[in-house]
Amino acid sequence: MISVTLQDMKEMSFLSIEGKNLCKYIDSKLINESVQSIGRKISQDYGEEQISILCVLNGAFMFAADLMRSITSPCEISFIRLSSYEGTETTGKVRMVNDIPDSLSNRHVLIVEDIVDTGITMNFLINEVKKLQPKSIKVATMFDKPSRRKCHVHVDYIGLTIEDKFIVGYGLDYNGLFRNLPDIYTK
Ligand code: IMP
Ligand code: MG
Repeated sequence: MISVTLQDMKEMSFLSIEGKNLCKYIDSKLINESVQSIGRKISQDYGEEQISILCVLNGAFMFAADLMRSITSPCEISFIRLSSYEGTETTGKVRMVNDIPDSLSNRHVLIVEDIVDTGITMNFLINEVKKLQPKSIKVATMFDKPSRRKCHVHVDYIGLTIEDKFIVGYGLDYNGLFRNLPDIYTK
């Protein structure tokens, strides 16, 4: 696959966050290996049970697309759009932009998130999904920043655990930008 790298765009002045240049933090190869490994684990755990993936937009769209292709169990996907961040800081208030599909009741729901940071978003979403009385709820996240946790959440599948850094790329953004970078960058 031909992908855009930071190198390709290095002359461009928009590759900075709050005046600091971006530097590469995690290679796409490692991301891909982690996705495949989670996919194998999920497939083993669910077997032939049908999984209802709930992808948290916008950040998790890329991870969910790759993860879904590495799962061999039957699965369907729906989307929920949540928003809590402004710039590099969480506002602490989670807003649900669309409703969770009712069709998740009585299903094995797998919430797919890009990153669990303070845990506020995931805690909120798990409680909302529980109201629909699914058969089970599990959580998969590509990245985990445990040192930032304010709210305890149980995460079943973690791609990569990272330090307390603000990251962009592979679906994660800063004010809407940088989601298209296949590798992960930090400032
Ligand atoms: P939490 O509620 O603090 O756990 O934040 C979760 C959401 O904040 C994630 O779904 C991301 O959309 C966003 N977020 C948290 N950390 C980062 C980051 O380092 N880069 C980009 N977005 C982030
Ligand atoms: Mg997100």
